[in-house]
Amino acid sequence: MSLGPITAKRAIKRAAGWAAVLTSPWVSRPDRPRACILMYHRVAALDFVDPRLDDWNVPPPVFAEHVAALAEFAECVPLAQLPARLRASGPGERPLVCITFDDGYANFVDAALPVLSRHRVPAACFVVTSCVASEEPMPFDRWAQRQRQPAAEPAAPYTKRGRDVFLASTCAMCHAVSGTTASARKAPDLTHLASRSTLAAGTLPNKPENLARWIEDPQRYKPGVNMPPHALPQQDAQALVAWLGTLQ
Ligand code: HEC
Repeated sequence: MSLGPITAKRAIKRAAGWAAVLTSPWVSRPDRPRACILMYHRVAALDFVDPRLDDWNVPPPVFAEHVAALAEFAECVPLAQLPARLRASGPGERPLVCITFDDGYANFVDAALPVLSRHRVPAACFVVTSCVASEEPMPFDRWAQRQRQPAAEPAAPYTKRGRDVFLASTCAMCHAVSGTTASARKAPDLTHLASRSTLAAGTLPNKPENLARWIEDPQRYKPGVNMPPHALPQQDAQALVAWLGTLQ
């Protein structure tokens, strides 16, 4: 079975969570009060985000369940009061919990705050002040939005030729470029190759001459890499590099 990166990340997080719970009786002193700081980002409906890419979103009904359970089984305290409460709290008391939100998305006000108020649960919200009152998406979201766009149709015959070389040669057996018929998942997705600063995970600066060298003989730059050398006719190779250079 092959796991996507998000699925694998979730599986690792879940395993780490269970390991922490199972080992806690041995690694933490039972006579010490304990606290947990929960870090949320987004509380948004699933049609707003792509759950395959965005694994830090919690849908509003799930968030409401979290808060209801915390209000019943834990003592939710304001973040600023946590150190004093930890010192004052004795063994056997309900676990202390702080709820925090990073980034200050508008859905903190729309979706999270009503639930928190209903249960009288305090929370700290860390706001990115440079984005207050801005209609622009946050820098990371802008980047993620761009990454989800398919490759643009080649604008010139030369770059169109480059794309045709890519689709007709072995490249499409391993790589995907969304918006084309290349959809293989054996190697990095090249849809936004030109927006990366390096090639092959930092091996070479992403420049046309390095791209050409990489395609010709990747083993020379990364011994053992699972990409074969390609001896393409020179004009095809140049057109291919030109098209790859347009994949912003
Ligand atoms: C047998 C599979 C395979 C084929 C065929 C193949 N590649 Fe690759 N390619 C890879 C792998 C694996 C990597 C990842 C190298 C690494 O970073 O370790 C890679 C990396 C790359 C990179 C760097 C990507 C990045 O994110 O930095 C480019 C560009 C690239 N290949 C272009 C091509 C082109 C163009 C062709 C066709 C002429 C091609 N590849 C054919 C497997 C393949």
